[in-house]
Amino acid sequence: MRQAGRYLPEYREVRARAGSFINLCTTPALAMEVTLQPLRRFGFDAAILFSDILMLPWALGQELRYEEGEGPLLAAVRDAAAVRALDVARLPGAIAPILETVRGLRTEVGDATLLGFAGGPFTVACYMVEGRGSKDWEQVRRLAWSDPALFGGLIDLLTEQTIVYLSAQIDAGAEAVMLFDSWAGVLAPSLFRAYVIEPSARIAAAIRARHPGVPVIGFPRQAGTMLGEFVRVTGIQGIGADTSADLTVVARDVPAAVAIQGNLDPQALAAGGQAMAHETDAILAAMRGRPFIFNLGHGIVPDTPPAHVAALVSQVRAV
Ligand code: CP3
Repeated sequence: MRQAGRYLPEYREVRARAGSFINLCTTPALAMEVTLQPLRRFGFDAAILFSDILMLPWALGQELRYEEGEGPLLAAVRDAAAVRALDVARLPGAIAPILETVRGLRTEVGDATLLGFAGGPFTVACYMVEGRGSKDWEQVRRLAWSDPALFGGLIDLLTEQTIVYLSAQIDAGAEAVMLFDSWAGVLAPSLFRAYVIEPSARIAAAIRARHPGVPVIGFPRQAGTMLGEFVRVTGIQGIGADTSADLTVVARDVPAAVAIQGNLDPQALAAGGQAMAHETDAILAAMRGRPFIFNLGHGIVPDTPPAHVAALVSQVRAV
């Protein structure tokens, strides 16, 4: 997830060489290198394209930079003129280097599954409207209630461009795609249906139609009681469970053929030792006998000792 890489010295070395984070994402040789680093070190079953969910608004012409310690900063989109200024004609040229990275990775990942990804339209809109990270996204939620035409128009635009972007990643060699809706859990149920479930369902249906057999994995973080409805309505093939989800409840709420992915607390991984081992056993036991992808419940934290990751991988491999 978003912090991936920063816990590895070999990532920090390439990151320093790249200069800006955007340069790292748009230089295929460097983006390929940092995608492959964790695979080489730990032998995971899958590699996720190194990029960021905010490369989509960047590709549409929104100003974006990443400040050390501050996270992403964008020129906020809060009125009709700013939405009109988003330029879909820029997208193909802007994402070309990212697609080149995917094509290069296809031959380099070997037997591992290559995952493409995008942000969920709502989460991408969160950063676009707020202009920066936030805990509760007050501006975004206010705008969704006060100007549904404007906000709904932005979500529609992002939904369409996400279909284009994910389809292009699949054409370039991505074997499955993941949709990160990290802030879905801040929405009231009616808005969750309109701005998380409905756009995700449109994206999943378009991918199914254009690329039958390519799995779509959703991650509507902290969806809580809305998770089952999200899975049923979108018809996705996999569901990422966040740290707060009880996997036995998730398993009860979703069809048996849907893969569940998750959900070790990244802080349990950072802590390591017996607590991590015990929690990992509990997750594996709860998911035994059903389609399951072991993963964290959110992004790995930068001060995670790589040795804890190695220990976790060998524990999961031993099952
Ligand atoms: O795991 C990977 O390496 C794949 C690449 C990836 C990144 N971001 C690289 C990244 C993925 C899948 C993401 C997704 C992403 N980006 C999400 C959804 C998942 C999540 O974590 O909730 C979100 C919300 C973002 C937006 C974003 N990008 C934020 C908020 C930040 C700042 C993070 C922080 O804590 O400071 C980023 C930057 C970012 N994206 C980094 C990486 C490796 C760190 C940048 C650096 O190395 O300087």
